[in-house]
Amino acid sequence: MFYLTTAIDYTNGAPHIGHAYEKVLADVLARHRRLRGDETFFLTGVDQHGQKVQQTAEREGVEPSEFVAGVTARFLALWETLGIRYDGWAATVDDRHKACVRAILDDLKAKGQLYKKAHSGHYSVRQEQFLTDRDRDESGNFGPEWGEVVLFEEENWYFKLSEHTAWLKDYLETTPDAVLPLFRKAELLNALDRNSGTDLCISRPKERLRWGIELPFDPEFVTYVWFDALINYISFAGYRAAADAGLPDFSRLWTAGERPIHIIGKDILVPAHGIYWLCMLRAMGFPDTLMPRLLVHGWWNRSGEKMSKSLGNIVDPAELAGRFGIEAVRYYLVRDIHTGRDSDFDVERLIMLFNTELANELGNLCNRALNMSQRFTGGILRTGGPETDDDRALQASLAESTAAYQAAMDDFEVSRALEAINRHVVHCNGYAERMKPWELNKNPELRDRLATVLYHLAESVAHCAVLLSPVLPDAASKLAAQLKLPGFGSFGLSDLKWGLLPDGHEIDKPQPVFPRIVIETPEGK
Ligand code: ME8
Ligand code: MG
Repeated sequence: MFYLTTAIDYTNGAPHIGHAYEKVLADVLARHRRLRGDETFFLTGVDQHGQKVQQTAEREGVEPSEFVAGVTARFLALWETLGIRYDGWAATVDDRHKACVRAILDDLKAKGQLYKKAHSGHYSVRQEQFLTDRDRDESGNFGPEWGEVVLFEEENWYFKLSEHTAWLKDYLETTPDAVLPLFRKAELLNALDRNSGTDLCISRPKERLRWGIELPFDPEFVTYVWFDALINYISFAGYRAAADAGLPDFSRLWTAGERPIHIIGKDILVPAHGIYWLCMLRAMGFPDTLMPRLLVHGWWNRSGEKMSKSLGNIVDPAELAGRFGIEAVRYYLVRDIHTGRDSDFDVERLIMLFNTELANELGNLCNRALNMSQRFTGGILRTGGPETDDDRALQASLAESTAAYQAAMDDFEVSRALEAINRHVVHCNGYAERMKPWELNKNPELRDRLATVLYHLAESVAHCAVLLSPVLPDAASKLAAQLKLPGFGSFGLSDLKWGLLPDGHEIDKPQPVFPRIVIETPEGK
C-alpha cells in the first residue's frame, strides 16, 4: 500500500496558493501511483483546534466550532474545484480523532512518558505565551510587541521528548530516506544538536485555552494543538479505532508495504514533524521500519517575499482557477517549482508556460495528429508500413521521455517529469515539420508513408495523454476521448507500449483542449 498524507491546514485563515500547491502535489503523486497500479490511500484534512482559532472566532463573535465549520467548507470547496481526489478526510474535531488522541495520551501516561510540572517564567498576556531569553531585545527587555509581561507560574503536562532524541539522531543518520530531499535532513540534524535536552509541554490549562481535546486524566487541561494535529496521520488511518468506525484498517495502510509519505512544507519540519512527531511515534512503540518518510517541499513566495495577510500579497487559488482554468493552475503549481525548493509565484510565467508547453507545443501536436488524420485518411489510423530512421528516432524519443518521466515521478520531481513529456512533444513537432504530411498527401503513391507518419503522431498523443493524466486529468480524458483510446482509465503505466492505437483504429473529430490564454489589455494600451 502507498499511504500518502499532506499537512492538515489551519482553519484560522483563508486557503492560499501554498496550501493549494501542497494538495496538488500530493494529488499528482497519488494519481501517478494509482496509474502505476499501486494500491494508494491519500489523506488530507484540516487542523481545527488551538489558540489562534479560538482568538479569531472570539474576534468574529462566533463559537469556535461554527468558525472552523465555515473555514473548513472553504477548503473542501477549493479541493473540489482543483480536482483533488483524496481517499480520507482528517478533521480534528471528529470524535474518532479525539478518541484516538485520548487513547494515545492514556497509553503514554501508563508508560511513564508523561509528567506534570510547574513552570514559572515571563508570560506575555497579549500573545498568551511564555517568553524565553530569546524573546528579549538587544537591551535585554521584552519589547512592546509583547504587551504586558508578567511573572507567572503554571502547571502543565510534559512528554519526555528528551528521552528519544539520541535515538532520533541515530535513526536519521542511518535511514537514507527519513527526510527528502536530502539537504532538509541536514537542517533537521543541526536543529536537533541545538535543542535535544528539553521535554515537550503537551497541555494548556483550560483558563487559557478551552478549544482543544481535554486530557483524559486531568480535565483542567486541553491537549496542545500540535500534539493533537500530528496524530491525524494515524487516527484517520484507523490506529486504535473500533472496527465499525468507518476508518481504514491500520495494519494494511501503515504497516503493509512501503513506509508512508508525509508531504509537509519546510516551516513545519523543525520541530513539529522532524522532532516531535517521530519521537511521539517512537514513544508509542513504532519501530524504525514503520517510521514515515517526510517529503519536505519549499515555499511559494511573491517577489522573494513571504506571502502574508499583512503584506497583502496572498494569491487566492480559487480566483486564479476562475481566471485561467483549473488545469492551468494545476500545471503551473507543479511545473514551476522543484520539489524541496522555493519558487516565486508569477502570473506571467503561468501564462507563458501554459501557452508555450501546452497551447503551442502539445496543442499543436494534437491538432496536427487529429486534424490531418481526419482530413487525409478519413480518421482511420494505419500501422504496418515500412519504418524509417526518423520513425525509429521518434519511438526512441518516446521511450527516453517515458523512462525519464517514471524516474522523476518516483523521485517526487513532477517538474522534471513534465519536462520529459515536453521533450517528446517537441521532438514530434520537429518530426511533423520534416515529414511534411501535407506534402505527402499530395502524392497518391505516398499514401502508406503518410499513414505511417500520422500514426506516429497520434500514437505519441495517446502516450502523452496517459503520462499527463496525473497532472491534467481533465485534458487527458478529453484527448483520450478524441483518440477513442482503448482502455484509457483502466490500464496502467506498465501497459504503455508502442501500439496503443491498433491498426485500422478510427479516431474522433478534434476539439481544441488547450486554448491559448489571451490577456485582454485595457483599451489604448
Ligand atoms: O502548518 N508555500 O498549517 P498551515 C508553500 N496546521 N507551502 C505553504 C505555504 C507557502 N507559501 N504556506 C503554507 C500548518 N504552506 C499546520 C500543520 S500538520 C499535522 C499541521 C504549507 O495552514 C505549510 O508548509 O499553516 C504546511 O505544510 C501547509 O501549507 C499547511 O499550513
Ligand atoms: Mg503556517
